[in-house]
Amino acid sequence: MAFKLNVNGRSTTVDVAADTPLLWVLRDVLNLHGTKYGCGIGQCRACTVHLNGRAVPSCQTPISAAANQNITTLEGLSADGTHPVQLAWQEIDVPQCGYCQAGQMMSAAALLAKTPRPSDKDIDSAMNGNLCRCGTYLRIRQAIHKAAEITANASAKTVQTAAVK
Ligand code: FES
Ligand code: FES
Repeated sequence: MAFKLNVNGRSTTVDVAADTPLLWVLRDVLNLHGTKYGCGIGQCRACTVHLNGRAVPSCQTPISAAANQNITTLEGLSADGTHPVQLAWQEIDVPQCGYCQAGQMMSAAALLAKTPRPSDKDIDSAMNGNLCRCGTYLRIRQAIHKAAEITANASAKTVQTAAVK
């Protein structure tokens, strides 16, 4: 069956069974390997992507539910690795083995889009489902605060530049 998708701002059509998980379509059909397979049963969130800006586990999202929606994967966060979350993750040096980190960054980016200055409580609640077997949780929290700061500084600079013009 053919499904129209909008992935990272590009339209595409895939021909798969209606119950095929979005994760498999991204990885095996579209060759977008930034989204990881962890448990496959909705327990780890390594496979998190954005569906219309909301963080969802792609292993639990049938392609029929993703058709005609806006899907963003790690590859779509920025064209050149300069999304505030990506910059902050590098600066804080968050990953250990790295396996969970694509999902962590996607959940963090969805949180920051909704709550630009999250508290520790906001972070803990939004990131609750994303497991990290290496225990990088404290660095993740630190990096989310750093990403919020990067975004706030960039906005302040834009306002200053506009005022000078
Ligand atoms: S792989 Fe999707 S929740 Fe674990
Ligand atoms: S960095 Fe290893 S599982 Fe999270």
